[in-house]
Amino acid sequence: MQHLLNPRLAEELRRVPVVPVLTIDDAKLAVPLAQALMAGGLRILEVTLRTEAALEGIRRIVQEVPGVLVGAGTVRTPDQGHSAIAAGARFLVSPGMTPRLVQSADGWSVPFLPGAATPSEAMALADLGYRALKFFPAEPLGGVAALKALAAPLPDVVFCPTGGIGPDTARDYLALPNVVAVGGSWVAPAAAIAKEDWDTITRLSREATGLAVRI
Ligand code: 3PG
Repeated sequence: MQHLLNPRLAEELRRVPVVPVLTIDDAKLAVPLAQALMAGGLRILEVTLRTEAALEGIRRIVQEVPGVLVGAGTVRTPDQGHSAIAAGARFLVSPGMTPRLVQSADGWSVPFLPGAATPSEAMALADLGYRALKFFPAEPLGGVAALKALAAPLPDVVFCPTGGIGPDTARDYLALPNVVAVGGSWVAPAAAIAKEDWDTITRLSREATGLAVRI
């Protein structure tokens, strides 16, 4: 298991610190979706394991869209982690953490971002060596103000907040020293995916790439 971001992931996030959080209902749409996002500048994609099609979607993106770094999100069980790695996921993300998950993550070959929502959870994960955490669900948990407050007692922990973030708020998160990237579904709305409206998704990706220029 890698507690920290690997160099390629860290480098990509420095370039464009926005990670689209994708829900794929039809594996056939995974490749054009990834291509549309990449055309707008986003090259790190998180495919959530919330649908039957997710693993096949990851597989297809890995095989057919070189240049994209695809990971799996919503990893809740060790089995899901193993399946996602077998499908080609280059990083794993979870909305939280469980003892079973962190134990299993010790054997994973790719970076894992477990989720924390409280100081105690962040401290427990930092104790285990995790210094990069998902902060979820960011907006309901207090958003920018909450992350600002966490930076004082936990200066050695960085976060990737997701949940309720959009183009209007992403920049405020990215201005925080303890935010390494923001994630969200706003760049790939379900309606646009269903309509195969790739132009809209490329435009949203381009806008996200632009707003993410570090302040
Ligand atoms: C996630 O898993 O990170 C969230 O579902 C993304 O949240 P959003 O849909 O509010 O952007």
